[in-house]
Amino acid sequence: MKNTFVLLIALMITRLLSAQQFEPNYDESKVPKYILPDVLTTFNGKKVKSVKVWENKRRPELLDYLTENMFGKVPGELKISSVEMLEQADNAYGGKAIRKQVALHFESNGKKLSFTILLFLPKNVEKAPVFLGYNFYGNHTVTSDVNVIISDAWVDNNPSFGIINNQLTEQSRGVRTNRWSIEKMLEAGIGLATIYYGEVDPDKNDFSDGIHPLLYKKNQEKPEADEWGSIAAWAWGLSRAMDYFETDSNIDAKKVIVFGHSRLGKTALWAGATDRRFAAVISNNSGCGGAALSKRAFGETVGRINNAFPHWFCGNFKNYNNNEAMMPFDQHELLALIAPRPLYVASAEDDKWADPKGEFLGAYFASPVYKLYGKKGIVSDEMPPVNQPIQNTVAYHIRTGVHDVTPYDWEQYIRWAKEQLKIE
Ligand code: GCU
Repeated sequence: MKNTFVLLIALMITRLLSAQQFEPNYDESKVPKYILPDVLTTFNGKKVKSVKVWENKRRPELLDYLTENMFGKVPGELKISSVEMLEQADNAYGGKAIRKQVALHFESNGKKLSFTILLFLPKNVEKAPVFLGYNFYGNHTVTSDVNVIISDAWVDNNPSFGIINNQLTEQSRGVRTNRWSIEKMLEAGIGLATIYYGEVDPDKNDFSDGIHPLLYKKNQEKPEADEWGSIAAWAWGLSRAMDYFETDSNIDAKKVIVFGHSRLGKTALWAGATDRRFAAVISNNSGCGGAALSKRAFGETVGRINNAFPHWFCGNFKNYNNNEAMMPFDQHELLALIAPRPLYVASAEDDKWADPKGEFLGAYFASPVYKLYGKKGIVSDEMPPVNQPIQNTVAYHIRTGVHDVTPYDWEQYIRWAKEQLKIE
């Protein structure tokens, strides 16, 4: 009897403890006290006071640390083996745009991989700046244009879009037009380049498919603990798209703005950090592992993201599961790697899982590096009210609504990009 009682009490305590551990925190007063590493102090305690020291010492050490301990390194070089123009027309969007569908082919280790870039370029611009961003469900979902080719790559099922059997069909054409203000971009003289992210690496915990096997050493079956997860693989794909843009005479490769939402926002940030050819970076609701400070442990945490999506980051990042205090870096330092190039961080009011305040603070604490370059970042640690963007070289807004990409978001991005990149 006594034993059963003790057992019962023990069970209750364990339940209580684990409930605490497993309930995400959405209470500002329960954010742990944390010490944020100073972006302008090197790992061995030296203050960075010049662009030179930032560029030669601090930036490289941060980039190396994040590469080896968070996103993972790309274990070799893999160039485009051939470019194939699958389709091209100059009468898209009622004659306002050129449409191109370009496949990039890769070959290595006896394996092949291809992905297709869909481009809409404003016809009245000789060399168009472009927004480059991955889509979640295939190029044909971003537009109702019937000429857009349907990908045959693996896709996560989504019955509400008619996606079953992990295959894309005609049924999902145009289902995501609300997330891409293509006509507004074209009117502003900016093109869109988009790729289905699953063509570069299917978004599942399986390293036998996607781009990874093309760079395996003999008998390797999965990346080493410091080698690329899926986010680094997707970022790699964006850089290969950039390689192509540099050869396309209709594109101004010096004005490519890399954009992404959510997991693809994390990807856009890493692409911007690792490839300085991207002229500007937009993170839409990127949250944990993106713009949000990990040490706040608000909403999604490092442990949660690594458990739910073990393939996104490299193996070493798991060392920080439920252990954010030990991280010698935080996400403001990922953002700072983008300096002095324009950076836009955006949140949504009801997107607590992504920690809007943590995203704002990420941008705020990255700003001293912008200042070092004589650029204006986020200068106050007070969050702006909803729907009142701050648009400096570092920009931030929090809009009303949920985790999504909306026409409101695009309106802000377009206005800001035009100003920052001097697009006429
Ligand atoms: C999940 C995940 C987030 C991610 C999001 C998305 O919610 O926990 O980290 O940003 O998916 O990509 O939509």
